Amino acid sequence: MLETISWTGHSVRLVDQTKLPLETAYVEIADERQMWDAIKRLVVRGAPAIGVAAAFGAHLGVRHDDSDSLADFDAHLEQVCTYLASSRPTAVNLFWALDRIKRVSQETRKQGSRSEDLMVQKIKQRLLAEALTMLEEDRAVCKKIGEHGLSLLSGLRRPEPVEGSTHNSGLSVLTHCNAGALATVAYGTALAPIYLAHEQQIPIHVFADETRPLLQGSRITAYELREAGVPVTVICDNMAATVMSQGKVQAVIVGTDRVAANGDVANKIGTLNVAILARHYNLPFYVAAPTSSIDLSLGTGAQIPIEERDSGEISNGLGRQTAPDHVQFYNPAFDVTPADLVTAIITENGVAKAPYEQSLKALCR
Ligand code: MRU
Repeated sequence: MLETISWTGHSVRLVDQTKLPLETAYVEIADERQMWDAIKRLVVRGAPAIGVAAAFGAHLGVRHDDSDSLADFDAHLEQVCTYLASSRPTAVNLFWALDRIKRVSQETRKQGSRSEDLMVQKIKQRLLAEALTMLEEDRAVCKKIGEHGLSLLSGLRRPEPVEGSTHNSGLSVLTHCNAGALATVAYGTALAPIYLAHEQQIPIHVFADETRPLLQGSRITAYELREAGVPVTVICDNMAATVMSQGKVQAVIVGTDRVAANGDVANKIGTLNVAILARHYNLPFYVAAPTSSIDLSLGTGAQIPIEERDSGEISNGLGRQTAPDHVQFYNPAFDVTPADLVTAIITENGVAKAPYEQSLKALCR
């Protein structure tokens, strides 16, 4: 399995996801500017991975700080965190991670030190330690999501075996975008139950929407599932209705960039289409996410900031011009699926169901 993010001892190593599936290349990130650029350009992407990457970015930004006053160090850390926070607006994990880093800085000083410059050194060590903790935590959190998700999937009715066939017809699920190992440190969120099923030799099949405009489904989800030996079928986004109408999938499972307190979920553009289709075809629509993606400060999904990206992703998305000159483009990177279309939200702390105001609060402990 590829290591999405790792710490080399002096830099952060990222899989360059812009190059997948043709090339498995890594980039080394040595300062906060390179990290900002990697997040912005989707070299590293997916809400949990962005959070961990930003935490390392904060460390990289202040590691050479030699302030002898805590006030100067604080101002520097604040500036680095504000800068990193400006890379992408939708995934709340980015802000969650940077807040956590700033909190560690504040808490470390309560332990006291002989001088302010020694305290600055101590805080810098603690920030790196925290980023490394977040890296390890994400792996464990995703595994837990996988366990809860697999229990849900295991309760679904499997398709009837085709007469005369010896083929063990397992469950088929549809996913959109990439909420797999490459969107996290390991396992993924939406793909975690799939990987656990596969590890336990439970037959499972994934239909991956290609996910225009940047094709995270066909480039990244299909790539990582194939590497893991999980059977995967890539479809164009506009084929999901047909696949559902033909009974080829029994559930939809996706990740999310931010969940509002009422259970509305922001995820990659096109997720809303899939949720509406799932309702029409009476299929469960599951969202898998760490509790760090839940933003209880926002009442509804209407308050979630939605990133708009460059129109070139549409007009030249497939390596060549795919629309005429002198037309307009609209390129929102995410959409919001209303809570009433969400069957359940699977977290590391358990599964939330409607009414989400209560169930999400109970899981965010
Ligand atoms: O623009 P991206 O590729 O960062 O979008 C990623 C998604 O929408 C994922 O589904 C989401 O971040 C959840 S990742 C576990």
